[in-house]
Amino acid sequence: MKKIFAMLVAVAFLAAAGFVYAMPKAPAEAIVVKSAKMKKPPVTFEHSKHKFDCAKCHHKWDHKGEPKGCESCHKDKKDGKKLSIKDAAHKTCRGCHRGMKKAGKKTGPTKCSACHKK
Ligand code: HEC
Ligand code: HEC
Ligand code: HEC
Ligand code: HEC
Repeated sequence: MKKIFAMLVAVAFLAAAGFVYAMPKAPAEAIVVKSAKMKKPPVTFEHSKHKFDCAKCHHKWDHKGEPKGCESCHKDKKDGKKLSIKDAAHKTCRGCHRGMKKAGKKTGPTKCSACHKK
């Protein structure tokens, strides 16, 4: 019984290690999210403050290679089901912050000027 348990632990450990090594790393430095035609001040995004599943934001990521920036698909204007970059960002970013705030959890900003910092 002990042996089986030790084996299970080893297998679980190896699986976890393999999973970690197969994961691409999120950029360590802050990213300034801005598009060409922006009127509002740009938004600073830090992966280090967002340790969630990558696919939570990079929702079209194939789990291979590096995820692509949102603007490679979301443009200035809505295109069919593809939201504009503004709506896509607001739904993902502000949506999560608002939801967590409502639930009484520590989260990111929900006010315009707290994200669009001059
Ligand atoms: C809370 C949302 C969120 C999470 C979680 C997240 N990212 Fe990101 N990531 C972004 C945003 C926003 C950008 C900037 C996109 C842009 O500039 O269009 C970005 C950019 C990137 C880029 C640069 C893409 C480019 O071409 O500029 C890489 C690589 C990346 N993320 C990898 C990861 C990995 C790996 C994980 C999981 C460990 C992860 N991200 C988790 C939101 C997130
Ligand atoms: C490879 C293309 C691609 C990339 C990259 C991409 N999206 Fe999308 N996104 C789409 C498409 C296509 C849709 C339309 C709905 C669907 O097919 O899921 C969509 C829909 C959405 C929606 C609406 C989902 C809903 O519930 O209606 C949000 C929000 C969103 N994207 C946010 C983002 C954010 C934030 C990023 C960057 C972190 C991003 N997307 C990167 C293609 C992409
Ligand atoms: C799944 C939930 C979730 C999503 C999606 C998300 N955030 Fe956050 N955000 C958080 C949480 C939780 C914190 C608080 C982290 C902390 O203080 O450690 C945070 C903190 C922040 C902060 C404040 C950082 C600081 O210096 O204190 C900014 C700015 C921010 N988020 C911007 C964004 C932007 C821009 C996006 C979209 C690209 C985004 N967030 C998407 C949950 C989310
Ligand atoms: C949680 C962070 C966050 C909050 C809060 C937020 N935004 Fe944004 N907003 C973003 C991100 C990220 C983008 C995408 C930037 C880009 O265009 O690449 C964006 C894009 C935009 C754009 C399109 C680009 C431009 O400047 O023309 C407008 C307009 C905008 N936001 C206005 C607002 C207003 C008004 C509010 C308050 C009601 C607000 N935002 C609140 C993160 C935020």
